[in-house]
Amino acid sequence: MNTKRIYAITLLLLFSFSLFANVKIGALLPLTGGVSAFGDLVRKGIDLAHEERGTVLGEKIDVVYMDTRSEKTESANGAARLIDKEGVIAIIGEVISGNSLAAAEIAEKRKIPMLTPGSTNPLVTQGKKYVSRVCFIDPVQGTALAEFAVKTLKVKKATVFTDVEQDYSVGLSNYFIERFKKYSGQVLQVQYKSGDQEFSAQLSQAISFGSDAIVVTGYYNEIALVAQQAKSLGYNGYILTGDGSDAPELLQLAGQAVEGILYFTAHYHPDARITPVSGKFADAYLKKYGIRPSTLSALGYDAYMLLVQAIENAKSKKPDAVAAAIRNIRNFQGATGVITIDANGNASKDVVIETVKNQKFTFETIISANSLK
Ligand code: PHE
Repeated sequence: MNTKRIYAITLLLLFSFSLFANVKIGALLPLTGGVSAFGDLVRKGIDLAHEERGTVLGEKIDVVYMDTRSEKTESANGAARLIDKEGVIAIIGEVISGNSLAAAEIAEKRKIPMLTPGSTNPLVTQGKKYVSRVCFIDPVQGTALAEFAVKTLKVKKATVFTDVEQDYSVGLSNYFIERFKKYSGQVLQVQYKSGDQEFSAQLSQAISFGSDAIVVTGYYNEIALVAQQAKSLGYNGYILTGDGSDAPELLQLAGQAVEGILYFTAHYHPDARITPVSGKFADAYLKKYGIRPSTLSALGYDAYMLLVQAIENAKSKKPDAVAAAIRNIRNFQGATGVITIDANGNASKDVVIETVKNQKFTFETIISANSLK
């Protein structure tokens, strides 16, 4: 073959590839590392959604997964890799707020829309045009947790365990404390770090303070350890947390130590069927995976479906048009509820309260977002 011919064939191939170019979406998730349970759950939700809706604007959708190893630096690197090397037009992720903050810097600079399923710290979207979320924010869940603690559980003295390495935990602690103090609740605040194994020093402080609740605003590994060590020290008050408890791993790690005493704020529970989509989603999930869906699977499903809807509404896969279309989503019927994205890229949703009965996450009640103001 002469060079001219090779050249012509190459051009033809490139042209036909661009005609059938797929819509590439990045999924930036903690698939390994400290909070890998969260990443795995989101992935299950995205995979199910992708099976149900695999095309948009007449093109096939490709989901490119990228592991952040549950780390901030890897989250920023992963976002850059997805955009610069893979050429994604949008990113779903990350899950935990600190990682999303790192990734959001990159997405915002490169003008690529990013939609996080579960990052609740207000700063993740604040002041940004390209970053949005399908979940409520921490002022909402922190306030809901304090309201529930005071009004339903009659908590008067709380020791708040703050993971100083997590933006999520630092913020959530403050929002809880602010509302709890309004009701004259007494607070002792103690610190720990992600990965800590030993909590006896903080726990003996909590016990001598006379806490009727220990509030751990971090993630499942450390929550489980705090609960177990509290129990072995004879503590018999409540353990309260935000959404960071919400992975089946918490139950496996904590066992009996959380039975009947853990209450936490959540985005979703399969027994709280909020929209017609919630029921359909839960049934399809059970069929595919043989288990009932977890919260982060429902949020991952919603993030994917909402993003694809935004691409369709935009009638374009240009990142600018998609980012604007995400911000224009109104009354989207998701598995986790009806989602309207506000001008700041946040969703306003009701807060589910769950507890543990017979070693299972059990739906307790719903606190409406409007009642929290
Ligand atoms: N809200 C948590 C964060 O921002 C992440 C999370 C969401 C964890 C939902 C569990 C369930 O860090």
